[in-house]
Amino acid sequence: METRRALVTGAASGIGAACAQRLAADGVHVIAVDFDQAGLDGVETILTDLSDLERLSELPADVDILVNNAGVQQVAPVEQFPPERFSYIIRLMLEAPFRLIRQTLPHMYGAGWGRVVNISSVHGLRASPFKAAYVAAKHGLEGLSKVVALEGAAHGVTSNCVNPAYVRTPLVTAQLADQAATHGLSEAEVLDKVLLEPVAVKRLIEPAEVAELVAMLCGPASASITGSSFVLDGGWTAH
Ligand SMILES: NC(=O)c1ccc[n+]([C@@H]2O[C@H](COP(=O)([O-])OP(=O)(O)OC[C@H]3O[C@@H](n4cnc5c(N)ncnc54)[C@H](O)[C@@H]3O)[C@@H](O)[C@H]2O)c1
Repeated sequence: METRRALVTGAASGIGAACAQRLAADGVHVIAVDFDQAGLDGVETILTDLSDLERLSELPADVDILVNNAGVQQVAPVEQFPPERFSYIIRLMLEAPFRLIRQTLPHMYGAGWGRVVNISSVHGLRASPFKAAYVAAKHGLEGLSKVVALEGAAHGVTSNCVNPAYVRTPLVTAQLADQAATHGLSEAEVLDKVLLEPVAVKRLIEPAEVAELVAMLCGPASASITGSSFVLDGGWTAH
């Protein structure tokens, strides 16, 4: 892995930071992209707003591994969901991954090797109320990932999704407060009765557990793993 270069989006926090650290531990040269400088010390960093699609062409295209990870959540009923926020989430979590895949594939095809890992979610496979934009973006990402898998196969490029349930990151901690207001519950009750209700393993997943799966999908035994979605969901989708 020492010769590989990876671009990881949303790498300043949570799952993205864990992926950047885990791939770097395998000797990969990691380029961390985020709009937040905090948490990015010690890695090559590019600060950009990934929802600004026209600026994505300024990011390096000569990478062997692309981890599409940056994402946000918004919790609101559909009839009250701010349309501009819906557009923003689709831009950041579906259109930006498309643009980044589109501009990095030529390098990967040229090298005859590439790994696209899309951090989807259990919400790429299942819906929950009040998360219209997030669920729509993640379901779209699932489709995009499969198309890339089919097109990339002849060029040694794989594309997969990783689908966690709730991971202990700021994205989830922020939701606890939002969902407490929406459901009229305390934050502790939201964790037990809402977030962990559909999962059999009653705990939050750690970012490092997700990163380990990402590293496996980029590692030496990954060539035939493509077009798949890997749930890491504590049994949620076993129902
Ligand atoms: N935390 C979970 O429970 C969970 C579960 C399933 C999937 N995911 C997915 O994992 C990914 C990472 O989530 P996380 O929980 O680590 O979140 P997080 O909030 O800890 O980190 C997200 C990172 O993305 C960056 N980011 C957000 N908008 C950006 C923008 N416009 N431009 C540049 N950077 C931007 C943030 O600055 C932050 O560093 C997301 O795609 C999320 O949907 C998270």
